[in-house]
Amino acid sequence: MEPVLGLLLVLLTPAHASPAMPEPCELDEQGVHCSCNFSDPQPDWSNAFLCAGARDVEFYGGGRSLEPFLKRVDTEADLGQFTDVVRSLPWQRLTVGDARVPAPMLFGVLRMLGYSGLKELTLENLEVTSTTLPPLQEATGPDLNTLSLSNVSWATEDGWLAELQQWLKPGLKVLRIAQAHSLNFSCAQVRVFPSLVTLDLSDNPELGERGLISALCQRKFPALQVLALRNTGMETASGVCSVLAAASVQLQGLDLSHNSLRHTASAPGCDWPSKLNSLNLSFTELQQVPQGLPTKLNVLDLSYNQLDSKPRPDELPKVDNLLLEGNPFLEYEPHSGKYDSVVVTAPVRLTLAVSVSGTLAVLQGAGLFA
Ligand SMILES: *[C@@H]1O[C@H](CO)[C@@H](O)[C@H](O)[C@H]1NC(C)=O
Ligand SMILES: *[C@@H]1O[C@H](CO)[C@@H](O)[C@H](O)[C@H]1NC(C)=O
Ligand SMILES: *[C@@H]1O[C@H](CO)[C@@H](O)[C@H](O)[C@H]1NC(C)=O
Ligand SMILES: *[C@@H]1O[C@H](CO)[C@@H](O)[C@H](O)[C@H]1NC(C)=O
Repeated sequence: MEPVLGLLLVLLTPAHASPAMPEPCELDEQGVHCSCNFSDPQPDWSNAFLCAGARDVEFYGGGRSLEPFLKRVDTEADLGQFTDVVRSLPWQRLTVGDARVPAPMLFGVLRMLGYSGLKELTLENLEVTSTTLPPLQEATGPDLNTLSLSNVSWATEDGWLAELQQWLKPGLKVLRIAQAHSLNFSCAQVRVFPSLVTLDLSDNPELGERGLISALCQRKFPALQVLALRNTGMETASGVCSVLAAASVQLQGLDLSHNSLRHTASAPGCDWPSKLNSLNLSFTELQQVPQGLPTKLNVLDLSYNQLDSKPRPDELPKVDNLLLEGNPFLEYEPHSGKYDSVVVTAPVRLTLAVSVSGTLAVLQGAGLFA
């Protein structure tokens, strides 16, 4: 029998606590949201019972190592009595963070959560130590809709996604991985994510086009529709296009916002995914509309860039919704009836000024201040 235990067991194990201590868990008035921060050196773990009836639950470990618990808890324990407890938990969203967790304990938790109705799991600031054997049966873990990971490091390094995947039922729709320690996946070991619609790799500034190639394991994301790459060190739109083509990823939405994109004068020809209809290039420091964009889009977001002049129609794809707010050219040329579908709002400076002082905004609007 594989090690059977988990953070849950730990949390459900009453421990001695000194009565003077502030309670680590807080439940909101509606009884929906419950958050525990076990940062005290000797926290009252049993206080976690407070969260048993909540739907949105957070456990933070105060940066502690949970390894000692692995020794204390009987790894051969029969899950019997706990499965009923877990089945009765109304938890929909669970966040676990700020701890060092041995892999057998983390996967023990996932196994137990397989009996719950949990839909969203977030792991943040976790160090997962050691590795573990794969589960005995298929699909032992929770039937998650959304899995979000932020700053989670794994002893298995490049093999972590394949290892973690074995503890999830295959219905995952949204996967977010921020501040990853490795996105250089061992793709051969990764199984297909048959239902994954959204892959969000935002906030991995070291990724770049090169790293994206190994992160987008070919044929493992057949249902993918949306790829978010905010703040991922992407350099050119055409470079990303080439990676998507190489990985044969079919997308409808691509978010490249918050990257410093270079304008490529003569972009090498690249075929964008044929169904791509939404492209977000906001906050990308663009001074010109990049060449080689898809020829037709439903949404093109070029807001908050450095466009000094209004893009000419021949520079742009055929677009239904073009967003241009926050570009310098709008400050000299506040409105033109030419682009009826354009969402033109006040330039940033003016918007900020309004919130600071109405008078100043009026003066700026009247062109008295540059
Ligand atoms: C938990 O409490 C510690 C100490 O008060 C604090 O530094 C930390 O930010 C808290 N963590 C969370 C997630 O609120
Ligand atoms: C990332 O997680 C580790 C614990 O695994 C923590 O020590 C570190 O401060 C976290 N980094 C950030 C940027 O939050
Ligand atoms: C990614 O992994 C491959 C082996 O799977 C290795 O050859 C390569 O050096 C790794 N790349 C990085 C950037 O670590
Ligand atoms: C584009 O990205 C920015 C920043 O990430 C976001 O605020 C904006 O809503 C996005 N635009 C669209 C059309 O989704």
